[in-house]
Amino acid sequence: MTVPKLALTELSEASLGKTRAEAVVIGTLKGPDGLELAPGADIVDAALGGTLTDVLATLGATGAAEEVVKLPTLGKLPAGVVLAVGLGTPDPTPEQVRRAAGAAGRALAGTKRALTTLSVVDLQAAVEGTVLGAYAFTEYKSDPGEKPVSTVDVASPADGTTREHRAKLKASTAIAEAVCTARDLINTPPNDLFPASFADRASKLAADAGLEIEVLDEKALKRQGYGGILGVGGGSSRPPRLVRVAYRGAKAKQKVALVGKGITFDTGGISLKPAANMDHMTSDMSGAAAVLASVVLAAKLKYPLEVTAYIPLAENMPSGTSYRPGDVLTMYGGKTVEVLNTDAEGRLVLADAIVRAAEDDPDYLIETSTLTGAQMVALGNRTPGIMGSDEFRDRVAAIAQATGENGWPMPLPEELRSDLDSKLADLANVTGSRWGGMLAAGIFLREFVADGLPWAHIDIAGPAYNTGGAWGYTPKGGTGVPVRTIAAVLADIADNG
Ligand code: BES
Ligand code: MN
Ligand code: ZN
Repeated sequence: MTVPKLALTELSEASLGKTRAEAVVIGTLKGPDGLELAPGADIVDAALGGTLTDVLATLGATGAAEEVVKLPTLGKLPAGVVLAVGLGTPDPTPEQVRRAAGAAGRALAGTKRALTTLSVVDLQAAVEGTVLGAYAFTEYKSDPGEKPVSTVDVASPADGTTREHRAKLKASTAIAEAVCTARDLINTPPNDLFPASFADRASKLAADAGLEIEVLDEKALKRQGYGGILGVGGGSSRPPRLVRVAYRGAKAKQKVALVGKGITFDTGGISLKPAANMDHMTSDMSGAAAVLASVVLAAKLKYPLEVTAYIPLAENMPSGTSYRPGDVLTMYGGKTVEVLNTDAEGRLVLADAIVRAAEDDPDYLIETSTLTGAQMVALGNRTPGIMGSDEFRDRVAAIAQATGENGWPMPLPEELRSDLDSKLADLANVTGSRWGGMLAAGIFLREFVADGLPWAHIDIAGPAYNTGGAWGYTPKGGTGVPVRTIAAVLADIADNG
């Protein structure tokens, strides 16, 4: 992972005259009478003799969201280029700033050092967008192409650099880096990222953050009765794991359990998936990546909480040792599940991990997974579906909206429960119905959640992995959703219980 180095800097005509940045980023707005400059751009405009709006308009700039227009400063500034990025409307939300900063961050590839003034509009959004937009995953390229911007000077908001600004810069940089940590794991191909190697990477991250880690291998899983994880992982030559990473903050009042689906590759197993786009299933461990990055982040930001991540890891493969449709698995805790479709494997590994999580007596449970194609049918590629206990679900969804990750609350309709009845076990892993697949998966998980425990299930099947082009601060491939939602929920629990 290469992320730019960021530092706050005071913005004035004098400082602009001495900047070592090669490019200065300014915001543009689409006002009622056409193009306007965003706060922070005025000093750049003054240095250029008040011509900026006219010149940009001549170049076709409109201030539309994520529009990027570059113009040369012709010797009037030490920075050779002004990069104008559209914020959209005159009164931009944090998410509009984040997306504009992301578009600028992408457009800065090939530039070594830049100065951004978007931080005058919104410091946190500008920092997050810049880091997330600059992200590139080039591990596997012989020629990585243009390098992401390596240093970004962040203009202090109008009231000058305060302690609060420094704290905000630090926190938002850490949050964006956590998103990039998750992206790196997701983008690592499945021949290199499998249960044992994921566990190794978790061990390194945990050691660097001073966190406690426990890794159960296939023998320990067997001894302790993790039938779901073992069933799903049985078809692979690369055996499953259960990773537990714990952070104990000083003065922790609340304990939060995080569970993330870690299918390092999902072929569907004996219920084999079609060939088209099966490669996308390299992302089926995005939930695992998100909760691992989140617990490391909680430690870095010293949240006054206990946060424990439980990560069931398995590769879902077809082979002579695979579990079969018709098998009955005895899950951790003793419930039995009839497997009717080996491609509904996520809920099986999650059930084991959810039951294990409850043994540590958490106050809240947040689980996230690339669980159902039905999530994409219902909500599209950019909107996570959030289910769970009503109150906590709504709290997580409201926070997801505020972060720009835009999760949306979904119900668990009672009438769907009987669709999961099994002819011979406690529960079947799929329904016979075509409808409500995302909700049925949520209802399946609910069976394994301890009574009374506030919980949220975030289905990120679409949002975790961008199969289209880059947009805003979202690159192709792993997106790191819902790390920022989890981080914000943890911060909210730390503040409000
Ligand atoms: N990992 C998939 C869900 C998925 C699909 C994620 C597309 C991202 C993109 C999951 O394991 C799966 O296969 N779900 C099945 C469930 C079905 C068999 C009830 C699905 O959605 O088709
Ligand atoms: Mn599957
Ligand atoms: Zn899956």
